[in-house]
Amino acid sequence: MSRIAYVNGQYVPHASGSVHIEDRGYQFADGVYEVFAVHNGKLIGVKGHMDRLEHSLSALQIDWPMKTGPFMVVVNEVVRRNHVKNGLVYIQVTRGVARRDHAFPADSISSMVITAKKAAPLDKVALSKGIGVITIPDIRWKRKDIKSVSLLPNCLGKQQAREAGAFEAWMVDDEGMVSEGTSSNAWIVTKEGELVTRDISNAILNGITRLAIIEAAKEKGIKITERAFSEQEALDAKEAFISSSTSHVKAVTRINDQPVGNGHVGEMTSHLLDHYVDFIEAKGGPQHTDKWN
Ligand code: PDD
Repeated sequence: MSRIAYVNGQYVPHASGSVHIEDRGYQFADGVYEVFAVHNGKLIGVKGHMDRLEHSLSALQIDWPMKTGPFMVVVNEVVRRNHVKNGLVYIQVTRGVARRDHAFPADSISSMVITAKKAAPLDKVALSKGIGVITIPDIRWKRKDIKSVSLLPNCLGKQQAREAGAFEAWMVDDEGMVSEGTSSNAWIVTKEGELVTRDISNAILNGITRLAIIEAAKEKGIKITERAFSEQEALDAKEAFISSSTSHVKAVTRINDQPVGNGHVGEMTSHLLDHYVDFIEAKGGPQHTDKWN
């Protein structure tokens, strides 16, 4: 069955969906995006993704392409037309088409593209296999809280990881602290048993999955410390994992080819994966989504 995309007001065959050559997203990466997971036919974390999209758009002074009611109708329609029961929805909004000039055009109309693709259903066994990460310098700009389509450092980092036989790269800032993965948030459990993920600021993207894990853990009485942790702490950790809408909760068992803890998936990571899945199935996603940096 052929895929359907939504492009600036029209549902079109995915293969022929296109935007103008002077779209500012194409020329300047002047746009933002969101990736929603679809789990058992339901969009996950709608409130969080919508609130974060609002944060990204307003930080860059890009107009919403349409009101949120009709916007959600279109998102759901793209999911329906692509028969996605489990998978991902990609939403990209740019400042629109204008004659090339760095300063904002006076009267551009935001462009919007929405696509959806099928993915394998969330599989706890596959997720708990354990992946490797490498550490690399964080060479990105200073507004990582904005979900900008300007992802070149992230792409370079992910490629470096793949070439090193790893799944993800953890980016380390100038102070030696891990900021996050190239497309995921980073978590460790220290030798002392402290569950740690970086606190929100302009230094990371506040993940919707991250927020869901925090709320799910709180419900179970599990304490999370939101603070920066160093690369060395990560190397010394008992457990580690990544979180994102595409990877959910994925155990990290090797960092720079050294085993994390005993090299097996940790107990806390397995519990959190279970709690996360129960939580999104019951609540649909995080409820407290008003802070992004
Ligand atoms: N990326 N940090 C970065 C840099 C990310 O790109 C992502 C997600 C996350 C996790 O956010 P969330 O839990 O809301 O997915 C953290 C998406 C999946 C992507 O770029 O494809």
